Amino acid sequence: MKPVRTAVLLSGRGSNLKALIEACRAPDFPAEIVLVISNVESAGGLAIARDAGIPAKVIPHKPFPSREAFDAEIDAALRAADVALVCEAGFMRIHSAWFVKRWENRILNIHPSLLPLFKGTKVHEQVLAAGAKESGATVHFIVAELDSGPIVAQSKVPVLEGDTPETLAARVLETEHELYPQALKLVAQSMLKRGNERAV
Ligand code: GRF
Repeated sequence: MKPVRTAVLLSGRGSNLKALIEACRAPDFPAEIVLVISNVESAGGLAIARDAGIPAKVIPHKPFPSREAFDAEIDAALRAADVALVCEAGFMRIHSAWFVKRWENRILNIHPSLLPLFKGTKVHEQVLAAGAKESGATVHFIVAELDSGPIVAQSKVPVLEGDTPETLAARVLETEHELYPQALKLVAQSMLKRGNERAV
């Protein structure tokens, strides 16, 4: 079966993109990355995409008069590339309700905490301030509410004595690179089984 045509949306470094690209190289992996979109021109992820020979598009959000107009442009790019599944990896924009509806069950995000705990930004600061003894990463479907939506997969890491937001972030990031490819595999397999329809 043909792998599921997948796009990655990002705004920065792109280490998760790199992990996803590497995973997709495995024979019989059920997904392939066919497009990368960034709203930030200087995002490191763009170079990672281009080095891997994947079309990389910059769509800055600022020139658009509204969230809807920006999302419409993203949607058009995804459709033009015949994308069936979207993975967000450090994409720092909130979507409009219609975009989320349009991609319902076909759009994933990775968040660096054990959702539903510690949503939003400054996640590792929140974890440390709460005195949590473990943290981790979550891959979930995107819904209208931020950092909510059905959870596909999670992985845990310990919070260690003396951790700073940076040391904890690094430990969580390492587990993200394992988790996201596994979650993508699960979702893409489910889509293939259902004839490329929405995942369950
Ligand atoms: C990751 O920590 C991810 O969980 C969060 O943004 C960060 C992206 O990192 N949503 P990278 O650009 O994939 O390196």
